[in-house]
Amino acid sequence: MTAPKYVEPSGDQKAGYLHYRRPASPWEIFQKEEGLPVFKGIGMKDSRDLPRAQWQRYGGLATYIQLFGTNNDTGMYCWEIPSRSASKDIKHFYEERFIVLEGRGTTEVWKNSGGTKTSFEWQPWSVFSVPINANFRVVNASSSPAILLGVNMAPLMINMFQSKSYIFANPYDFEERFGGNLEDYWKPAEEYEAHPVQGRAQLTTNLFPDAQNCYLPLDNNRAPGYRWVYPQMVGNTMLGGFIAEYPAGRYNKAHHHGSGAVLVCMRGAGYSITWPADKGGLTPWKDGKDDLVLWQDYGKGGMISAAPTGNPRETWFHQHFACSKEPFRLFNFTGGSSFGTGGSRGGSEGDMVAGVGAEVGDGGSAIPYHLEDLFVRKHFEERLKKEGAEFQMPEEVYTEAGANIKVMSD
Ligand SMILES: [Fe+2]
Repeated sequence: MTAPKYVEPSGDQKAGYLHYRRPASPWEIFQKEEGLPVFKGIGMKDSRDLPRAQWQRYGGLATYIQLFGTNNDTGMYCWEIPSRSASKDIKHFYEERFIVLEGRGTTEVWKNSGGTKTSFEWQPWSVFSVPINANFRVVNASSSPAILLGVNMAPLMINMFQSKSYIFANPYDFEERFGGNLEDYWKPAEEYEAHPVQGRAQLTTNLFPDAQNCYLPLDNNRAPGYRWVYPQMVGNTMLGGFIAEYPAGRYNKAHHHGSGAVLVCMRGAGYSITWPADKGGLTPWKDGKDDLVLWQDYGKGGMISAAPTGNPRETWFHQHFACSKEPFRLFNFTGGSSFGTGGSRGGSEGDMVAGVGAEVGDGGSAIPYHLEDLFVRKHFEERLKKEGAEFQMPEEVYTEAGANIKVMSD
């Protein structure tokens, strides 16, 4: 398409239009071409309930899940590989990660330059990532369908390069991430390290055989008894995220930030609330602004966009509630890119940065329990009663002194 001729303004007229219609991005055009249903919303109870359609590119059936606040940032999809079948051979120049929701099978991974195929087995709640630009094939040899949730950085890369041959037919072998002796490449690691910047738990592993039940170390940053790990997988630098768990009957302090994070439930069940920080403030119910609060119930395979805004200037508070008799395990599946760069985005080298646990008044964005809207606790207690579960928050966290207790045991 040729662009229309430019007409230069005269006098003090402004060039162009002050308001204009936003065009589709290269990612949005690509997504449409795929011919799959696209679910849009703040979340859903269970992604397996979404209708799936034939997917030419990967094989099997799938639906895209483009939650509010993730568009042009991360791509997510729920993918079914029917029984006794395999995906196509796949490769792409972007990072990608999977959670197995159902089924058992194997994945084969190999380089562009050939060599032996590496492979590993997976089962329900395995988590694995495939190295950028490596070839892979997902095989379901069992008699029931396999359902996987995938997430990737396709939007960012497709928007950046706008070249299908660069993204999907690139011969480069990323030896830094998938090179050397590959014999133990898929051997799960169990040794927790300290994250080099934040000092929180990190596990460098390319495969979690069972991320629903694996040990998670105590973290306490978001709630008393909160458990947490940052998975460093296949050398990914953009696809961050974390696996976290709330003890049954507990919830976190609300905190706010921009869009991007999507939490997928892997264990238990619960609900999340989210509201725009500027418009809703610290106590939206008390201030008569509770119509701004969005709610999402979800269980295993379900999810919520923590800050579901498309406005890059907005931040949203969010808060998660373990509303069953079991702990509530969540995977921040889309992550945020600040981890990938070692926490070096924004400001200047050496600047002090407030971590996620830091509260309002301490340079952070978390609302201490004693300052939160009274409705939050009251509603949670009522919901737990309905579920036949117990409220398990230690009373001392609702005092000013309790807000400063950094380490609490289960
Ligand atoms: Fe958050």
